[in-house]
Amino acid sequence: MSYDTKILKPTPVNIMEAANWLQKGEVIGFPTETVYGLAANALSVEAVRKIFQAKERPEDNPLIIHISNIHMLSQIISVVPPLAYKLAQKFWPGPFTMILPKKDAVPSITSGGLSTVGVRFPAHETAISIIEAAGFPLAAPSANLSGAPSPTTASHVWQDMNGKIPVIIDGGPCKIGLESTVVSVIDDVIHVLRPGAISVEDLCNITDHVEMDTSILNPIHSDAAVSSPGMKYRHYSPKAKIIIVESDLEKFSAFMRQFDNKKNVWAMVFDSDTVDFPCPYLTYGSQPKDQARALFGCLRKLDDLGAETAYVRSPEKGGVGLAVYNRLLRAAGFEVIHL
Ligand code: TXA
Ligand code: MG
Repeated sequence: MSYDTKILKPTPVNIMEAANWLQKGEVIGFPTETVYGLAANALSVEAVRKIFQAKERPEDNPLIIHISNIHMLSQIISVVPPLAYKLAQKFWPGPFTMILPKKDAVPSITSGGLSTVGVRFPAHETAISIIEAAGFPLAAPSANLSGAPSPTTASHVWQDMNGKIPVIIDGGPCKIGLESTVVSVIDDVIHVLRPGAISVEDLCNITDHVEMDTSILNPIHSDAAVSSPGMKYRHYSPKAKIIIVESDLEKFSAFMRQFDNKKNVWAMVFDSDTVDFPCPYLTYGSQPKDQARALFGCLRKLDDLGAETAYVRSPEKGGVGLAVYNRLLRAAGFEVIHL
């Protein structure tokens, strides 16, 4: 089915229209505080199948279920350990996803065939209104084509989903810009599967038992058993080849000068950098929070500008900086140069 995809403002009438499409088993694009999502009824096999088709996503990569109040948890989750309750109290609504044992009501297609499922209560008024109006939890991966950078504006969603879905609700640019922190909670240990705006440091304030999955900073072979199936797929990649450069500004500038003003070689630097090389460049913020907000837009822009290669100044790795670095590593296929 092909649609004349509409981008609509989040007015009450348009939110009702989005909810109507969802109730008819269709897929819509919607804003959250992290990135835009591609939503459908999490409890309907047919509706969820349409998400996988629109994204061209492998069916063993599970989706996150979005709820609009804590009571909805009991519809989809069989056991909530005490530590998970504590985390929900502290970080929900917010950019935080917990992997928990699913109830039978959640079809296997939603959980990628696993007995657990990711749940998130987003901190976004429009997202919450849409879930409430639909009347059921929404399965929603990021609204990009599989492998592409996640969308942080409605027009990014349109680039990837035009003709494939009826409606995108436009909530403006996403406040955070990177996907939620994903954790599993087993035996009083928080296992971080994907870093996000709720940082490892934030989690360490709750308990001493926080572990980071090795896939956060290391490549995973596609046939390896992994705790988070999403980690094994190529991710966040623009068409341009991305290479991370670990160095100070002076060495970075000297390195970039070898390319003279070759027009298809780009640099990605910090806003605060004084640029002293002839290549074209983009800036992606200076502080980790600004970098998080800017990163995916910059990766998409490199493609719009026809960049073939981009050398990226490596970010700080503390707080949300770890999430920025994790997404960059994946965009770069783990290629890092140390100068
Ligand atoms: O911020 C976000 O989380 C956004 C917005 C739309 O809410 N959603 C998002 O979904 O990023 P997605 O599908 O692009 O990423 C979900 C990640 C994947 O890496 C997936 O493998 C992991 O969560 N995941 C989901 N369910 C899981 C499970 N049962 N066990 C392990 N990992 C799981
Ligand atoms: Mg995604």
